[in-house]
Amino acid sequence: MKRCAALCSFCILLLLVFLRIIWSAETEAPKPAPATYVGNEVCQACHAPAFEKFSQTMMGKIFLFNPRNETEKRACENCHGPGSNHAAAGGGKGVGGMITFRKDSGESAKVQNETCLGCHQRGVQTYWEAGPHASRGLTCVTCHTLMERTTDKYQLAKVGEKTPFFNKRAETEVCGQCHLQRKAQLMRSSHMPMREGKITCTDCHNPHGTPNPSQLKQTSVNENCYTCHTERRGPFLWEHPPAFENCGNCHEPHGTVNDRLLKVTDPRLCTSCHNATRHPVTPRPKTSVFFFNRSCTNCHSQVHGSNHPSGRFFQR
Ligand code: HEC
Ligand code: HEC
Ligand code: HEC
Ligand code: HEC
Ligand code: HEC
Ligand code: HEC
Ligand code: HEC
Ligand code: HEC
Ligand code: HEC
Ligand code: HEC
Repeated sequence: MKRCAALCSFCILLLLVFLRIIWSAETEAPKPAPATYVGNEVCQACHAPAFEKFSQTMMGKIFLFNPRNETEKRACENCHGPGSNHAAAGGGKGVGGMITFRKDSGESAKVQNETCLGCHQRGVQTYWEAGPHASRGLTCVTCHTLMERTTDKYQLAKVGEKTPFFNKRAETEVCGQCHLQRKAQLMRSSHMPMREGKITCTDCHNPHGTPNPSQLKQTSVNENCYTCHTERRGPFLWEHPPAFENCGNCHEPHGTVNDRLLKVTDPRLCTSCHNATRHPVTPRPKTSVFFFNRSCTNCHSQVHGSNHPSGRFFQR
């Protein structure tokens, strides 16, 4: 009995599906002809303000006035897609299947990014698809604004009213939208000159993706530090293993509350690994009399490595 009922309802379902197919085939409007490229003069006629603003950006200057090939000549339609249907219908929101980039436009990140990658998947963008930003659905437009000139370089997105024009500082704002903890760390007492605008996130990271850990531009943390702190590279006669292994064993590059970007204060830093040396290393508060002169680096001043023949214990 049960089986019979199941079979019956299955048949009815089939019938409904069948009817639906016939019905839709009859009523669906004929598909519009695929859109073609019409040229930016057509767009300019209705979108004069957009045209004017865009013409002040680097891409605008090239595409609109000095195109170097057929692709660049398409200008507006390079990003928004061919516009014949949109223009013929008199324009309008959602008319003619234009590719849009607004946050609320519902356009998928994939479609948005593909328009850019067609020209830009090379140089620093080569590893985009493999990066964590792409896999988390970020779009190029999260960080770049394209229709008007924003920063002195790179067209970085305006995050707030206070976003500076100078790209080094603007970057901190752009990245700081999501990486709040990193942004907060820059404000700590010990920091590299990032908030001062001398170095910036992209001196160390490539936000478009890299084959290296943590989107670093260099293959390891140490290679990264050596690019600016070359004197730490060595080679040393006496090497301190944690230093050539990973500077991050002792330092936190984004900023800390301890001197010299140390993760923990000296002597606690050293005693976290050296808890069995010949001299007593029991941690004490900094105000203790026993602490006086016991900061390990008072005697072991060359903790990054020593080239002195008798520098085995990093005292010289
Ligand atoms: C390099 C890619 C690119 C080119 C070329 C381009 N646009 Fe845009 N357009 C965008 C992006 C991205 C936005 C979203 C806002 C922003 O980032 O500034 C946008 C926004 C717009 C908007 C507002 C609707 C919306 O989606 O928010 C209009 C209208 C527009 N563009 C027209 C034009 C016209 C006209 C041209 C040619 C003069 C042009 N665009 C060239 C990328 C481009
Ligand atoms: C006949 C006038 C007209 C022409 C020609 C025209 N547009 Fe539009 N377009 C409009 C109007 C009106 C809107 C809706 C108002 C708005 O969003 O600014 C619009 C909206 C858009 C949007 C946003 C679409 C959306 O769904 O939000 C884009 C992108 C756009 N136009 C790009 C172009 C491009 C590129 C061209 C040239 C190929 C072009 N338009 C030509 C009138 C026109
Ligand atoms: C038709 C090819 C083409 C397309 C499509 C295109 N670009 Fe470009 N873009 C260029 C060229 C050419 C330059 C000039 C610099 C250069 O040669 O690399 C440029 C420059 C830039 C710059 C640097 C601007 C500056 O002032 O320093 C950014 C950022 C950029 N593009 C982002 C994008 C994004 C995001 C998209 C997609 C919405 C996009 N581009 C789509 C060709 C293109
Ligand atoms: C997480 C933020 C972020 C995202 C997402 C992002 N960019 Fe960038 N982009 C930057 C920053 C910051 C710079 C400037 C420093 C640099 O060159 O790395 C830059 C620089 C650029 C430049 C100019 C530098 C050069 O030499 O090529 C281009 C072109 C560019 N981006 C294109 C893109 C494209 C295309 C996408 C999407 C596939 C994209 N960006 C996504 C942050 C971002
Ligand atoms: C719209 C939000 C957003 C913005 C803006 C943004 N990021 Fe990210 N970033 C993310 C997300 C999401 C992840 C992935 C985190 C995860 O997987 O745990 C990430 C991951 C990272 C990582 C870690 C990569 C790894 O392999 O662990 C680095 C480094 C990074 N971002 C740097 C930057 C820099 C530099 C900028 C500015 C140019 C930036 N981000 C802007 C959202 C953002
Ligand atoms: C001086 C170089 C340097 C600068 C500048 C820098 N970072 Fe980093 N960042 C690193 C290193 C090195 C790591 C890897 C840390 C590790 O693996 O222990 C890292 C890791 C990260 C991570 C990933 C953490 C994780 O869990 O993997 C994020 C996100 C990040 N940085 C964001 C930023 C942002 C945002 C800025 C700018 C405000 C910035 N960084 C500036 C060197 C730098
Ligand atoms: C893009 C260049 C650059 C890179 C890469 C870089 N630094 Fe720096 N670092 C600086 C500059 C500039 C200063 C400030 C120097 C000064 O004040 O004399 C600094 C200062 C420091 C200081 C001293 C801070 C203080 O409070 O005096 C430490 C510690 C440090 N960096 C560690 C690192 C480590 C660890 C790495 C790798 C994760 C690294 N740096 C990568 C540029 C860089
Ligand atoms: C074993 C822990 C440890 C490791 C690992 C380590 N450092 Fe340090 N670093 C220190 C200490 C402690 C100081 C403070 C020295 C002082 O006060 O004399 C310091 C200071 C510095 C300074 C500031 C020097 C100055 O004169 O202001 C820089 C730059 C630096 N380290 C870079 C690096 C780099 C690059 C690496 C990786 C090759 C690294 N450190 C690895 C412990 C370490
Ligand atoms: C991440 C762990 C770690 C930290 C933190 C660390 N060290 Fe070391 N240290 C080592 C290792 C591993 C060795 C090599 C031990 C060996 O060869 O027996 C070493 C060797 C030494 C030596 C030479 C000892 C010997 O017998 O040759 C001295 C001196 C020393 N460290 C001092 C310090 C000082 C001072 C600090 C704090 C600034 C410090 N270390 C922080 C891991 C660490
Ligand atoms: C007053 C100077 C002084 C201070 C402060 C000091 N040391 Fe030493 N340390 C020495 C001398 C001298 C030697 C070498 C002994 C020898 O030649 O046999 C030594 C040797 C060492 C050794 C290698 C020999 C062993 O005992 O294993 C380590 C590891 C070490 N110190 C770690 C530390 C740590 C960690 C601190 C901080 C808590 C520290 N030292 C503070 C003077 C000092």
